[in-house]
Amino acid sequence: MSSTSFNTASSSSDHIADSQADGCAEQTRRTLLLGALATTACLGCSVPARAGEDPPGSDERPQKGDLLVFSEGDKEGKLVTAADLPLGGPPVHAWPQDPKTSVVRSASRLNELLVIRLDPAELDDQTRGRAVDGIIAYSAICSHAGCPVTAWVKSDVGDKEVFKCMCHNSEYDPRAGAKVVFGPAPRRLAVLPLAFADGSLSVAGNFIGKVGGTQPG
Ligand code: FES
Repeated sequence: MSSTSFNTASSSSDHIADSQADGCAEQTRRTLLLGALATTACLGCSVPARAGEDPPGSDERPQKGDLLVFSEGDKEGKLVTAADLPLGGPPVHAWPQDPKTSVVRSASRLNELLVIRLDPAELDDQTRGRAVDGIIAYSAICSHAGCPVTAWVKSDVGDKEVFKCMCHNSEYDPRAGAKVVFGPAPRRLAVLPLAFADGSLSVAGNFIGKVGGTQPG
């Protein structure tokens, strides 16, 4: 029903309806204004709250000397050691942690890692050079559309287990620098070189390769 149809039959009830409509419009204006003020107030409040949640350094990329801590499961927040990694997989999910401040670099999802222990003899030369005792760390973020890589399953194109992103079935071979062996991913996962420091797994350098997806999911 158009507004014209209301105006053609003028009556006291129309005036009541109009005044109610005006009242509603005024109420709506007030509601919108209060909503906008509340939103502004919230935005103002969100900065310190977020700053409190994310300590300095927590969104920085992994750095040389960082330790690794579990990002999920019963051991979340605990150091990842060689003993936590079964030979041949599956991988564990981990965050880098600043050893000086104990800040876990979990404020950026691009920092999540897959850490796996494989037979060094299975690794290609370049991958072995970035691993320590067969332990190697890769970005956990798929290079296709940025989903987390969550599965460790037998490959669709071979008889070995591989990392698999369940969003569009891309597969990566961790023995060969996480090169793509199946699916639409355009490039391998970034690798994070590792070393041992005082008996703990430690980051030995920056990510090699681009981290993150290349297109929207
Ligand atoms: S986001 Fe991983 S295959 Fe598409």
